[in-house]
Amino acid sequence: MQAVVSAQDVVKTYPGPRGGERRTVLDGVSLNVASGEMVVVVGPSGSGKSTLLQCASGLDAVDGGSVVVAGTDLATLRPEAAARFRRSTIGFVFQSYNLVGALTAAENVALPLRLATGKADRRAVREALGAVGLADAADRRPGELSGGQQQRVAVARSLATRPDVVFADEPTGALDTESGVRVLDLLRDYASGTTSVVMVTHDLEAAARGDRVLVLRDGVVHAELVAPGPDDVLAAVAGARGGSR
Ligand SMILES: Nc1ncnc2c1ncn2[C@@H]1O[C@H](COP(=O)(O)OP(=O)(O)OP(=O)(O)O)[C@@H](O)[C@H]1O
Ligand SMILES: [Mg+2]
Repeated sequence: MQAVVSAQDVVKTYPGPRGGERRTVLDGVSLNVASGEMVVVVGPSGSGKSTLLQCASGLDAVDGGSVVVAGTDLATLRPEAAARFRRSTIGFVFQSYNLVGALTAAENVALPLRLATGKADRRAVREALGAVGLADAADRRPGELSGGQQQRVAVARSLATRPDVVFADEPTGALDTESGVRVLDLLRDYASGTTSVVMVTHDLEAAARGDRVLVLRDGVVHAELVAPGPDDVLAAVAGARGGSR
């Protein structure tokens, strides 16, 4: 199967506090995602999960290694081209939904379409909202929706452009169990089609629904599990915690 995301030996450093020595937050992490695959990233707080997502999606530049998404080496793109590339190829879902409060659900979903293509096809917007079960909420603003509904709008928004890959950082982190399962089901369904999903989560039950699970620890891959059960994920994360600084 073709790799949609191919991040090799990624190194990411941040300046130390008060101009001190730079800290290495990712120390040679590789992440390969096949078409239609759902890869889940778990690991203790501070292990580098969000940083890996930011580097693999081109939101942040790497200090070493390479990131190729849908055949494009992100290092070859200037900032403007990179932004264009992200809009057309990548979808994002964040823990805090990141919807625009002044816009309706439909307008929020239309936003990335407008940015990517210059226009927002009404049908595409309707379809995207319908796919997440919110056709009736098209004219409501985020403040009039529950957290779970807002996150489903965010999922619809991330998928309206039909991206090759969606990066989701703790998409169920702020949701109750039932809403979380619903959002997860959506992402899982999308990942069985042509869209790949890379998801960070602290929920090990949720993690076990991935085709593959990457366990990070202190900026390195501690373990990689293929189609694991919840117990396998639990054991691997406990192992990663045990050795954490
Ligand atoms: N912009 C930044 N500047 C400096 N240090 C940063 C920056 N972003 C992250 N870090 C550091 O990098 C390390 C990894 O952070 P990251 O956010 O990737 O962890 P995480 O695994 O997502 O944690 P969590 O589960 O708490 O979200 C942490 O020690 C964090 O303090
Ligand atoms: Mg994080």
